[in-house]
Amino acid sequence: MDLEEIDSAIQKMIRQLGAATKQRRQESFNVKEKIGFKDLVTSVDKDNEQFIDRKIKELDPDCQIISEEGFGDDVSRLQGHVWIVDPIDGTMNFVEQQRRYAIMIALYIDGQPTLGYILDVANNQLYHAWHGHGAYVDGQKLQQPADSGLHDSLVTINGGLILSGRGQVRQIAEQARGLRMYGSAGIELTDVITGRLGLYLSWLKPWDLAAGRVIAEELGLVVQNVDGSRPDVLSSNLVLVATSQAAQDIHQLVN
Ligand code: IPD
Ligand code: CA
Ligand code: CA
Repeated sequence: MDLEEIDSAIQKMIRQLGAATKQRRQESFNVKEKIGFKDLVTSVDKDNEQFIDRKIKELDPDCQIISEEGFGDDVSRLQGHVWIVDPIDGTMNFVEQQRRYAIMIALYIDGQPTLGYILDVANNQLYHAWHGHGAYVDGQKLQQPADSGLHDSLVTINGGLILSGRGQVRQIAEQARGLRMYGSAGIELTDVITGRLGLYLSWLKPWDLAAGRVIAEELGLVVQNVDGSRPDVLSSNLVLVATSQAAQDIHQLVN
């Protein structure tokens, strides 16, 4: 199967899964704490992940899969096709709000961010990009957001990071036009991608960043660690996704 066929099959699958996920929120499901009461996993997260991983293996049999809830492979090298899956991003919102949660899937080929999908499930909006082929929301081409600096931007910073008082996070928030927090990396990234926010700053695991990174980079946004290095796809990173001006403003503040 070529990449074009894989791309359309993933788009179809993620939309169907989104509709099923929304439906399952109305039915009964199990909720468990992972490392504490702020970190949940539900039976829907687990079922979604098994479903996505199975579909990906059907479409792309020689690939490897990194997925949050542990049904994927044990991947230590970014060689060949590596898929990265977050079966529900914003599980707390899924449980408590029934909105602001996403399904995220990405494909990295030999380490190169290649395909990225973020489905805003509650709104049935699909953001996706293919490296070199453009970025889209519901089939409409997205343009590079205006290059606004920190002072002219609304920004989003992970709540835990702000509470930790780490680095100059508070100063960054103070320099910005306003601070917003949604509790889903995927949904927050869609707002940076569309220019509704100028910056997302958070401590992110591979599956929190992988899909958004493909889309953001395709739109000429900056995706980097706060120290300016390139995020390692296989580890957790303190990452910013921002306009170039906002990224420069942050480097001036931090360094
Ligand atoms: C979490 C959400 C949250 C972010 C956390 C993520 P999950 O994902 O994206 O906004 O702050 O870092 O772990 O656990 O709901 O998939
Ligand atoms: Ca998740
Ligand atoms: Ca996540």
